[in-house]
Amino acid sequence: MLYNEPSPLEVKVVTRRFGKPDSEKIDTYLADEGYEAFKKTLTLTPEAIIDELKASSLRGRGGAGFPTGLKWSFVPRNTGKPAYIICNSDESEPGTCKDRLLMENDPHQLIEGMLIAGWTVRSPAGYIFIRGEYRYLIDIVDRAVAEAYERGFLGKNILGSGWDHDIYTHTGAGAYECGEESALLESLEGKRGIPRLKPPFPAVVGAFQCPTILNNCETFSAIPAIFRQGAEWFASLGPPKNGGTRMMCVSGHVNKPGVYELPLGFPLMRLINEVCGGMRNGKKLKAVIPGGSSSPCLRAEECDIGLDFDSIAKAKSMAGSGGIVVLDEDTDIVGLALRTIKFYQHESCGWCIPCREGTTWLKKILERYHGGGGREKDIDLIHEIAKGMFGRTFCALGDAAAMPTYTFIEKFRDEFEAYLQKSRPKQIPELALL
Ligand SMILES: Cc1cc2nc3c(=O)[nH]c(=O)nc-3n(C[C@H](O)[C@H](O)[C@H](O)COP(=O)(O)O)c2cc1C
Repeated sequence: MLYNEPSPLEVKVVTRRFGKPDSEKIDTYLADEGYEAFKKTLTLTPEAIIDELKASSLRGRGGAGFPTGLKWSFVPRNTGKPAYIICNSDESEPGTCKDRLLMENDPHQLIEGMLIAGWTVRSPAGYIFIRGEYRYLIDIVDRAVAEAYERGFLGKNILGSGWDHDIYTHTGAGAYECGEESALLESLEGKRGIPRLKPPFPAVVGAFQCPTILNNCETFSAIPAIFRQGAEWFASLGPPKNGGTRMMCVSGHVNKPGVYELPLGFPLMRLINEVCGGMRNGKKLKAVIPGGSSSPCLRAEECDIGLDFDSIAKAKSMAGSGGIVVLDEDTDIVGLALRTIKFYQHESCGWCIPCREGTTWLKKILERYHGGGGREKDIDLIHEIAKGMFGRTFCALGDAAAMPTYTFIEKFRDEFEAYLQKSRPKQIPELALL
């Protein structure tokens, strides 16, 4: 179930039109300062746009938290090749469900963010890559794109600027791997979705071998507000170098799971206890997975932190995709480790041997362990296999897959040891893990 209650700090940036009647329609958008930011950027040079983005300290909401302005500055100009704009709406990280809300409730905000990117690098075309399972969203986004053409925000000579730009929607086939930017580009080009070797990075060699701005759907959606209300205002919403708000997707053992827009740096424990109504059934907190299932879990005593990129990194985890999974005292960590690795094993594209073999072996051993046939040496074996996968794959899927298992053993070794004594788990975790 998804909630959209006013945030405790009443700061709404990307969700401010959610809940309004016909929020997805262009008239609603135009009545609420829609496309004003884009009009403003039509008077700015690419350098001025990029400087404003840098000053806003907007960081990518797709996973790595890379500074957006800096990323755009890497796109070479005057190469003689066109530059493309790609929106990553693959939303494949378990526990994450925000891009769908942005496209469903406010597709014009996304289109405006992409238009600003397009204008900055004078791009002829942009693509919105939407995960295959989100079929219903294609119609909503396509209708919004058609409205933007009708009103002259897309197509030829946009608003008399002399600039032409088209936007297309494209569906993935529902593969986690295709959320990784280079595999996404392969898939977009009609090939099998496997990662490319990096460098070169997509900014330089991206879609169709051309320079490319590739950002997450929430990243693009935050951009109009920056140019409407100013970089300084946006930056001031969060701690230094962590500008703006974030859509935090909370699942697991809380009373009110849902997606909440909150300023970056918002305390994790306040999110659980105040915003999400506390732990379900009055249970104790055991751990939190703070940034989608591939981020290292935090034990309860490590959860006294702010939800921004740097604070979570300092706690040796990742803000990742904003998927926050809350686990109570009854959670069976071995069962959770198995459930998680099953997902990654299924989703590994099989291109890199450490990921393909590693996930398969981890799954096999954990299955046996979970089924009551574990051996003492398995704990170190699982730990070693996971460790061996880090940094050894083209894309970070191998790391994403290994990270949860590795950290569960690091932080809950006692539970793995205790598991050897019993054959059945207390409770299979009921999580938003696919
Ligand atoms: C295995 C894997 C899956 C990913 N899935 C997604 C995804 O579903 N959506 C997304 O925006 N980024 C995903 N990413 C991150 C993208 O590669 C990329 O960094 C991001 O889209 C860049 O946008 P941003 O700078 O706005 O965050 C994934 C990365 C990896 C390694």
